[in-house]
Amino acid sequence: MSQHPQYDVLVIGSGAAGLTLALNLPTTLRVAILSKGDLANGSTYWAQGGVAAVLDTTDTVESHVADTLVAGAGLCSEDAVRFTVEHSREAIQWLIEQGVPFTRDEADPEAGSFEYHLTREGGHSHRRIIHAADATGAAIFNTLLARAQDRTNIDLLQQRVAVDLITEHKLGLSGRRCLGAYVLNRASGEVETFQAKFVVLATGGAAKVYLYTSNPDGACGDGIAMAWRAGCRVGNLEFNQFHPTCLYHPQAKSFLITEALRGEGAVLKLPNGERFMPRFDERAELAPRDIVARAIDHEMKRLGIDCVYLDISHKPAAFIREHFPTVYERCLEFGIDITREPIPVVPAAHYTCGGIVVDQSGRTDIPGLYAIGETSFTGLHGANRMASNSLLECFVYARSAAQDMLAELPDVEQAHALPDWDASQVTDSDEDVIIAHNWDELRRFMWDYVGIVRTSKRLMRAQHRVRMLLGEIDEFYSNYKVSRDLIELRNLALVADLMIRSAMQRKESRGLHYTLDYPDMLTEAVDTILVPPTFDD
Ligand code: FAD
Ligand code: SIN
Repeated sequence: MSQHPQYDVLVIGSGAAGLTLALNLPTTLRVAILSKGDLANGSTYWAQGGVAAVLDTTDTVESHVADTLVAGAGLCSEDAVRFTVEHSREAIQWLIEQGVPFTRDEADPEAGSFEYHLTREGGHSHRRIIHAADATGAAIFNTLLARAQDRTNIDLLQQRVAVDLITEHKLGLSGRRCLGAYVLNRASGEVETFQAKFVVLATGGAAKVYLYTSNPDGACGDGIAMAWRAGCRVGNLEFNQFHPTCLYHPQAKSFLITEALRGEGAVLKLPNGERFMPRFDERAELAPRDIVARAIDHEMKRLGIDCVYLDISHKPAAFIREHFPTVYERCLEFGIDITREPIPVVPAAHYTCGGIVVDQSGRTDIPGLYAIGETSFTGLHGANRMASNSLLECFVYARSAAQDMLAELPDVEQAHALPDWDASQVTDSDEDVIIAHNWDELRRFMWDYVGIVRTSKRLMRAQHRVRMLLGEIDEFYSNYKVSRDLIELRNLALVADLMIRSAMQRKESRGLHYTLDYPDMLTEAVDTILVPPTFDD
């Protein structure tokens, strides 16, 4: 056993959740934040629309709670929703104190007394989305990162890929506490052992399990897979949110067209110019995402078309350029002037509503292990997340987890020395093509069989294929040195299996889970909780 880096808190993930947690801990604690790529590689940096919160005098907690419950199709935990919404204002106040440059209001009569501009998105009955133009995520990330860089107690470590958690149970000790993690250092190629009093999974979602996604490359569900292997329950993984409007263009990989465009009046049209959303829902383009994405999917399949169109060109050009500079510029790069013409759009996988089961402090089933942000399952989103509630969840639960750790800290001792990673049985791979091939296969059948519209037969096909892949990947993992691609593939395949199992258990259609075999919603709303084999050991 060699000397290992020791921390009070090891945070795996440098997005909104991880940075917020670290900044809410006192400067006396030694904290490490890991990112598997560069520090900005999570979804946070790409968030566009904003953060939902009750901010102006004409809005109420009750209204935000009610909208979230409706969007969640009867499956939200009302306690989690209330807890999140009640803490929304103080979370935004904290962000403002950190220096996030939210867009200020210019005498908008609809915005009540609040001094920042508030926009609207699907499912919200009120203007309550605070934003920094249409690049809110970058504004938040840059601000929080700068604050973290100012802190001498925080080590920001990039190109470090957590492979697995170390628990007392895995080491054959009595107890179940999490003691640290094995982490691949991509620069040296070595797997290092990190020891910590608390470990926090802030690893983001798993939308990369699908062929088409709005998410950056790292969204592989690593945290969910690590937690499951360590013995944590996971919940509601069948609810994968598809964002209705991603840019449809061969070179525009994953570019999202923010829902705030629809909030400011953009309408969805067929190639012949017909507006179709009013046929599907009285809230039209501002219906919750599951409804809009399914309507688009339906029209695309009915007409055999490759995309539909989102049109905001009826608004003044200056308004569009001022409110949506990122979308405007990006579309222009592809020859689309959104002030004059409609934008070709398709739905793409966007958000993982389920995740690691946690309580209101972000505590998982394993002592010393927390999960916050998109990787967690708090009960807030139910069967369909309402727009801009995700970043809010990151801030509220990260702050709550930090407080919880501080209360427990005096009772926690640093663990005994941990064993090194054992690489004695593995060699360098000479067949990386298998990894690339399995990645493609997995993401394609998940798109085709576990997508917006499901059937029991498609789910069984997907399960059959994922089980074969899991076998191959296990063999590969046992024989070859780990790489980022292999770690991610192993995790994605496991999370895909958990998603399929969850989808097969749900014998109804609710929110984002729509199956032709059970088109109706049952009267009783029940979460899908999967329990790992090691849960009771
Ligand atoms: P992320 O920001 O995704 O960060 C994950 C971190 O974990 C990264 O640093 C990554 O490197 C690290 N990581 C992962 N695995 C490992 C590993 N094995 N080892 C080490 N590090 C690891 N939500 C809203 O509320 N409002 C919006 O306007 C909005 N717009 C969005 C737009 C886009 C294009 C996308 C993709 C998402 C959007 N969302 C929005 C969703 C929201 O951005 C995310 O849910 C949220 O940012 C997730 O934050 P997070 O901190 O949980 O994870
Ligand atoms: C968007 O800007 O449309 C994304 C908002 C979200 O995912 O909450």
